[in-house]
Amino acid sequence: MADVPDIDRLTAQAAAELERAEDQQALDGFKSRWLGRKGELSLILRGLKDLAPEQRREIGVAANQAREKLQAAYDQRKGALEQNKAVAVDLDYTLPGRTVPRGGLHVLTQVTDEIVRIFYGMGFEVADGPEIETDYYNFTALNFPPDHPARDMQDTFFVEGDYLLRTHTSPVQIRVFEKRRPPVRILAPGRSYRNEAINARSYCMFHQVEGFYAAADVSFADLKGVLVGFAEQFFGAEAKLRFRPSFFPFTEPSTEVDISCLLCGGKGCRLCKYEGWLEILGAGMIDPEVFRAVNYDPERISGFAFGMGIERLAMMKYRIDDIRLFFENDLRFLAQF
Ligand code: PHE
Repeated sequence: MADVPDIDRLTAQAAAELERAEDQQALDGFKSRWLGRKGELSLILRGLKDLAPEQRREIGVAANQAREKLQAAYDQRKGALEQNKAVAVDLDYTLPGRTVPRGGLHVLTQVTDEIVRIFYGMGFEVADGPEIETDYYNFTALNFPPDHPARDMQDTFFVEGDYLLRTHTSPVQIRVFEKRRPPVRILAPGRSYRNEAINARSYCMFHQVEGFYAAADVSFADLKGVLVGFAEQFFGAEAKLRFRPSFFPFTEPSTEVDISCLLCGGKGCRLCKYEGWLEILGAGMIDPEVFRAVNYDPERISGFAFGMGIERLAMMKYRIDDIRLFFENDLRFLAQF
């Protein structure tokens, strides 16, 4: 009589072997060892005739069940390995990942933030006003006579009726003075619009930062001190300022301030129109007429105001020779800041 085969032990052994099969070759080996015509289970089934009759049925059933079980496990394992292979073909884990492009602040925003930070250190608060203004705030309250050429179609974009796009940030002076009593020390950055021919130095839309200070006993020396202090912090000690007498309806006396051209070192270039200097701001002592328009007493209150072109400052600081670059949104330009 032959030994009674231990089908449970054999099945466990086969299952463990299947677990370890990682490729088609191992699977093939498994198949012929356990499921093939010369496999272990076939041998058992073929050897049934040598067993005691009372064991034949029991062992036969068990061997057939084991065979079915192992066949199913084999099919599953085979399927799983094929799927892994498909995934491995699609995914190359050695490829670098897709990067998410990082945004950044526009260079004009960065420059504005820096200007605000410097003046904040000198005691200025930030305010703003609308870009669509009325004739009153943009001109009349700022002491522009009714026939002043700056009001004419050449410079101003009119919206409709009394509305226009502000041509400077000076109307914020009026809006703040109407709401506040002196002392006030304000910085007002924002957009301005002028219907100008577009070239390397001028654009129809640009940014200004208005600064103004009204209190008892504010002098021109205060204005000068603030502007020179700003230029030193913003540009560094090598920057020189040049004050030229000028005229604005809302300041008296008035000045235009140039900075020595840092692009060409004063030798002359496209940016400074070959003059060695670039105008960056207008300023002056606030005209008594402006104070009267907002019910401040010009006998008791004096003040200064200045308006700086932010693009001009940025161009000088970063040696940019064309204002149009700021608005073209060319990432090769923008990504440099
Ligand atoms: N608003 C003037 C301009 O746009 C600049 C300026 C501001 C001048 C404040 C004097 C005082 O040209």
